[in-house]
Amino acid sequence: MKKENEFGFAIHEIKNKLQVLILNSEVLERYLIKMNISDENVLKFTNRMKEESMDLYRFILDISYIFKKANNIEEFSLNELLNELIDIYNSLIDAKKIKIIKNYDPKIKEVSQDKKKLNIIIGNILKNSLDLKTKKNEITIRTEKQMNTIRVTITNYGEKINEKLKKNIFEAGFSTKEEGTGLGLYIVKELIEQLNGSIDIESTGDSTSFVLTFPDKLKNK
Ligand SMILES: Nc1ncnc2c1ncn2[C@@H]1O[C@H](COP(=O)(O)OP(=O)(O)OP(=O)(O)O)[C@@H](O)[C@H]1O
Ligand SMILES: [Mg+2]
Repeated sequence: MKKENEFGFAIHEIKNKLQVLILNSEVLERYLIKMNISDENVLKFTNRMKEESMDLYRFILDISYIFKKANNIEEFSLNELLNELIDIYNSLIDAKKIKIIKNYDPKIKEVSQDKKKLNIIIGNILKNSLDLKTKKNEITIRTEKQMNTIRVTITNYGEKINEKLKKNIFEAGFSTKEEGTGLGLYIVKELIEQLNGSIDIESTGDSTSFVLTFPDKLKNK
């Protein structure tokens, strides 16, 4: 079985199990009311179980989105999306005293793309840059537009990614981190291709750039 199918399969099963949990906690809730059990704690804990399962269910639905090949195209500001991502990681950026340099192309206004997928793609690359031990605490985010193509380059100053590592880096399960799943870049590659785009790595001794290229106006197939 292909790796992506295995993940899809696992997510599908988790989703089903969660549905069973939610259904059963609803039955329990009704049963308690029928039995006239009015102990506040019993009702509170039962309700909490249901709410937490529903939360997890919604989260799993969100993740399962990446297994759908169809794109949800909408118009949005690329700068805003990038700034939102920087915001999400603000506490980590502050704690590691990292300077984020924004080099946004003023020619880029709105793009017509799948916002959620782009968010996952760029978010994963940014997070990887933040995870590194670096020589220089700086990350540059550059955007460029040429004809109808957008390029987003994220540059950091960590260890060089040599040719051998470049071959492995997009494989599902490849990670050099203690708590890494090695799924980040695998998902990134899968998703950028769904958006008619591509990803390249440019790594010298000094800096490493992940370069994303994608159309500014994605058309549905
Ligand atoms: N900017 C980078 N510079 C150097 N190495 C990198 C960079 N980004 C990723 N890597 C290497 O690629 C590996 C795979 O990255 P990937 O995002 O797929 O998984 P991960 O980050 O290890 O795990 P997870 O995404 O679950 O946190 C990383 O473990 C790291 O060794
Ligand atoms: Mg990662």
